[in-house]
Amino acid sequence: MYQTSNADITKAFNKNARIYDRWIGLFERYVADGARVWAISKAQGTVVEIGVGSGLNLPLYSPKAQHVTGIELSEKMLTIARSRLAGKGIDRIELRYGDAQILDLPSESADTFISTFTFCSIPDPLSASREAYRVLRPGGVFVLAEHGYSTGILGRAIMHAIEPLSILVSAEHITRNPVSYLTGAGFTITHIQRSGPGGIVFRMLAAKQAPTQTTERAESTDCSAKPDPADPGTPQPDKRHLDLKPERWLRFG
Ligand SMILES: C[S@@+](CC[C@H](N)C(=O)[O-])C[C@H]1O[C@@H](n2cnc3c(N)ncnc32)[C@H](O)[C@@H]1O
Repeated sequence: MYQTSNADITKAFNKNARIYDRWIGLFERYVADGARVWAISKAQGTVVEIGVGSGLNLPLYSPKAQHVTGIELSEKMLTIARSRLAGKGIDRIELRYGDAQILDLPSESADTFISTFTFCSIPDPLSASREAYRVLRPGGVFVLAEHGYSTGILGRAIMHAIEPLSILVSAEHITRNPVSYLTGAGFTITHIQRSGPGGIVFRMLAAKQAPTQTTERAESTDCSAKPDPADPGTPQPDKRHLDLKPERWLRFG
């Protein structure tokens, strides 16, 4: 399997930046509905979001995320993310060019790491997991919404067959197993829920254990952890990228 580089990522996402929201909107509408909102509802304290992309998560952060640093390799994606914040006077969100595999952030400085649909494209997901582990405080949590290998044999075979194409077109690996690189970096998986066709969508919480914490490995199918839409303090997702009507797209942004 071809090993992507940072240059491949930059090239692919700079090229596809203009159509990214539409493409991910399709994926979320038909496959991963709710995973993004679930992930951001877990963010609290000092937050680092890796592969912030076009910034679709930014409107979802509630005030309990006191400071958010969004890291991104693609300048074109970063420009779209910045435009999403422009003129809103939100100074608790900072967006930076950077590499999730070598973070320019101090050790043990963050409470929450967020990655939504990013690990599939990071060239070396184990290095990125180790960096997250380093930067998180003991007791901190890595929240992941991701897609990965299918649980079905046929689905997995199809995914392996088309993966070279997805890597070529969008630098995306579609058969990765997020559990292996997170546990490989030292995290303890405390929640994992799979949904979508073949269970390809992962919602995961991975903890950096505090020295005194007891280890609890939980396999959970709880999918009730969604923000309460009736709560006026609950940020609502910007669903415009889920609306596929062309006239809406012309107005988007
Ligand atoms: C599929 S997009 C997901 C974007 C966003 N997280 C979302 O939920 O819409 C993956 C993003 O990760 C970025 N990325 C990939 N590898 C990266 C790395 N090593 N460091 C920072 N960003 C990276 C890509 O440039 C791209 O914008």
